[in-house]
Amino acid sequence: MKIGNLDVTGNSFLAPMAEITDYAFRAIAKNNGADLTYTQMVSAEGVIKNNFNTLRMLTFSRAEKPIGVQLLGNDPDIIGRAVRELVRFKPNIIDLNCGCPVEKVYGKKMGAYLLSQPDKLGKLVNEMVKNSQGIPISIKIRLGPKDKVNVLENAKIIEDNGASVITIHARKKIDRYDVEADWSWIAKVKEQISIPVVGNGSIFKAEDAVKMMKDTKCDAVLLGRGALGNPFIFKQIRLLQEGKKYIPSIEDIREVALEHLDLLEREQSLIISIDRAKKNIIWYFKYQNGLENLINDIYSAIDFDRLKEIVNNHSKKILDNYYPQENIEIITKKFNNRVLFWLAKEEAKVL
Ligand SMILES: Cc1cc2nc3c(=O)[nH]c(=O)nc-3n(C[C@H](O)[C@H](O)[C@H](O)COP(=O)(O)O)c2cc1C
Repeated sequence: MKIGNLDVTGNSFLAPMAEITDYAFRAIAKNNGADLTYTQMVSAEGVIKNNFNTLRMLTFSRAEKPIGVQLLGNDPDIIGRAVRELVRFKPNIIDLNCGCPVEKVYGKKMGAYLLSQPDKLGKLVNEMVKNSQGIPISIKIRLGPKDKVNVLENAKIIEDNGASVITIHARKKIDRYDVEADWSWIAKVKEQISIPVVGNGSIFKAEDAVKMMKDTKCDAVLLGRGALGNPFIFKQIRLLQEGKKYIPSIEDIREVALEHLDLLEREQSLIISIDRAKKNIIWYFKYQNGLENLINDIYSAIDFDRLKEIVNNHSKKILDNYYPQENIEIITKKFNNRVLFWLAKEEAKVL
């Protein structure tokens, strides 16, 4: 598909996720078939002030291309200057976050708040396009601010102001993750505008992705929680579109989990990476028996060698049918609705 002047070879993308889609996560997603990945949101103000942590979160390697970077902000001048700054890094896409519902962001009139100000939104898009030197601008929105749906109005304004692609998370600002995403709005937007539309919201299986594309005619899908510990989903989506199936073996999962650990170990300080490594390992094994045992073991680990040992031992025990059979459906539901215990805390951080 074409996004502005950018050719993207496939149609399954990795969503921006704060404190999650770091270099290691994106690299693993890409190796397993993600056609486009995004950095997590960073504040436009941090970018123009050259804030060290902001820039660290924006860093990506050439091998990661195509990659999108995501900005958070609400001041057209600051957003424009941040885009000018980002152009120097040569990302393939620059995105504006218009969907974040957390109070820390919404309360500062950013993220999903922008959906209540269509004119301001138009100005922001316009400013981004003016300053991006041809790099496509993407805008990530929800169905509406608070409990109202105004996605058709916002989509039109975004298109009219020159954005190259719109991503729609098919929930309103007030909807928590246990409220069903309403994909029908993605179809309505797709009918109304001519720039590409990327659909997002509750894709947990390759079948969901294919269904969303079929039902809504969206040009691509964006996966957040469905990719946690399951980078294989990108390959599964591609194969399913060719009528084929792929189910990762425990050995596949073990190998990718260890590779993920290696990348994290190399990339960041132990304090940040060990915590991140722990949650990723749990996600890798979330659909397998013995999850409680894994969580207990993981908690006490203090270095990467121990984590790798845990991954190896746990994989072997699963293969040896050491753990009693569990109701995977119940475990899956817990993950899909809350991403276990980390979600609330992680989503609140913005740098
Ligand atoms: C832990 C977490 C962090 C997120 N951080 C961001 C973010 O930085 N920027 C953004 O636009 N959306 C963020 N989101 C929203 C996702 O990109 C996505 O729109 C949402 O999770 C719905 O997709 P899903 O049902 O596939 O998870 C985050 C979601 C989660 C679960």
